[in-house]
Amino acid sequence: MRNKLCAVCAVILVTSCGGGGGGSTSAPTTTPITATANSAPTVSSPVSNQSANVGFDFSLDLSGTFTDADNDTLTISADFGADAKGLSIAGTVISGRPDSTGTITITCTATDPDGASVSDTFTIDVTVDQSAILATFNGAIDLENLENYANQTVPNYITKVNDGGNPITDAGATLGRVLFYDPSLSTDGTISCATCHVQSLGFSDAGIVSTGVEGGQTGRHSMRLINTMFADEENFFWDERAPSHEAQESQPIQDHNEMGFSGQNGRPDLNTLIAQMESTEYYEELFRFVYLDPEITEERIQEALAQFTKSIQSFDSRYDEGRAQVNNNNANFPNFTADENAGKSLFTQAPDNGGAGCNVCHRAPEFDIRPGSDHNGVFAVAGSTTEFDLTNTRSPTLRDMVGPGGSSNGPFMHDGSLATIRAVIDHYDSIQEPTSEPPLSEWRATIDNRLFPGGNPQRLNLTENEKDQLEAFLLTLTGASIYTDPKLSDPF
Ligand code: HEC
Ligand code: HEC
Repeated sequence: MRNKLCAVCAVILVTSCGGGGGGSTSAPTTTPITATANSAPTVSSPVSNQSANVGFDFSLDLSGTFTDADNDTLTISADFGADAKGLSIAGTVISGRPDSTGTITITCTATDPDGASVSDTFTIDVTVDQSAILATFNGAIDLENLENYANQTVPNYITKVNDGGNPITDAGATLGRVLFYDPSLSTDGTISCATCHVQSLGFSDAGIVSTGVEGGQTGRHSMRLINTMFADEENFFWDERAPSHEAQESQPIQDHNEMGFSGQNGRPDLNTLIAQMESTEYYEELFRFVYLDPEITEERIQEALAQFTKSIQSFDSRYDEGRAQVNNNNANFPNFTADENAGKSLFTQAPDNGGAGCNVCHRAPEFDIRPGSDHNGVFAVAGSTTEFDLTNTRSPTLRDMVGPGGSSNGPFMHDGSLATIRAVIDHYDSIQEPTSEPPLSEWRATIDNRLFPGGNPQRLNLTENEKDQLEAFLLTLTGASIYTDPKLSDPF
């Protein structure tokens, strides 16, 4: 450094002497020119290594760092290396709000108008203030060592991807995980999202309906939250009333029967909850880490919860193993039994081709619901024999209907009326109409016409053996890791 600096000085001196000599040919005898030799700037007070915190303002004035013997005006620049982490320099001041942890090595250079310069190098060690988080979660959440949510492996045959313009980040999903499992987001402090979306049940619930605050009951069966990002249908809930994933995510918190912050019948509203969260230290730390300021808004809650939900990704089923080998849904999979391959073919083929026609609405390989599908003939309000609900046109992916051990992840359909996969197959094999008016007319007018061929409810006439094969195939759609993956588990 020192040698290089002298070399720079030498060049500058030579140049200025040469210039002076060239310009003074007509006055060789006057007083020798004195003040033309430039003095390079020097480091008068080296900056010591600094520390900073993610989400907290950082500022460092370099005006005392350099001097220049001939009082030239110095221009100060800074090289932050590959990642400035949100810092920048203006005038003599380095400032900004660091956006991630790690060490920044900064080389500041002071340059005088003649181009002579000197540099000073120091580091800023950016850490995160997470004392409340470490105390609350006992190491399950560590903002210095985030879990990988954003870059999970997705097979190349998965083509339906919709992140809703809110892509997963490791930080956002980590916040989402805390929100998802926090019962203090309910009015009586007992219900979290995970109460009704249980990890060991594919993020669904064993009950026909679910129980929320103060014994409140949901109107429909809980939905498995699997691979929600890998679908074309953008509307959420069985009846598609939420226009996006994000819009869905804060509704349960404000649902009177679910988490209770409804603002109705004397219950507090969402603003009350937000104020309560703002005085919770681990949320102050988490929001500051993710958003670089501690402000809590409904939009931020939605974003973070949606990122966590989207990160529940299940692609380690036997179906995926076989699909990766042949990369064609319609070829026989080498890892399947003959029955499973026959079931796959039944699932895929149309009824007039001897199949069961499932794939037209639950499309492989995502098994997401086809946008624009109408209802499938299941018409009851959960738990009721007198009320009807013909609005349900969305289904969770058909992946993970049972857990890795083969036990059911809960009853099926919006009304939880079909307890087993076999009951589901029987439904489609012989679709039953309501037995009275007015629901019968409304039902006929609204059922998906692919399940009402020629104006009659579908009769597949599957043999018992074919039903067994179709069931065997549906069981191959179950993954493994989501049921136990620590990054998807309760951090409290
Ligand atoms: C008291 C039970 C309960 C709680 C608590 C609950 N949910 Fe749900 N969830 C349900 C039910 C029931 C449905 C289906 C409701 C419907 O379609 O009308 C559902 C549907 C969803 C869906 C739609 C899935 C899809 O594919 O359309 C998402 C996403 C979801 N919940 C996420 C959450 C999140 C995030 C929380 C916490 C903020 C939460 N849920 C809290 C019971 C619950
Ligand atoms: C015309 C479109 C259509 C076809 C064809 C179709 N389904 Fe469905 N499926 C739906 C809709 C819509 C729902 C949600 C209905 C509800 O809950 O009321 C659904 C729900 C389901 C569910 C419940 C999922 C859950 O998580 O509870 C299963 C399982 C299912 N279908 C399996 C099948 C099988 C197997 C076939 C072929 C025999 C099939 N479906 C054919 C549209 C269809």
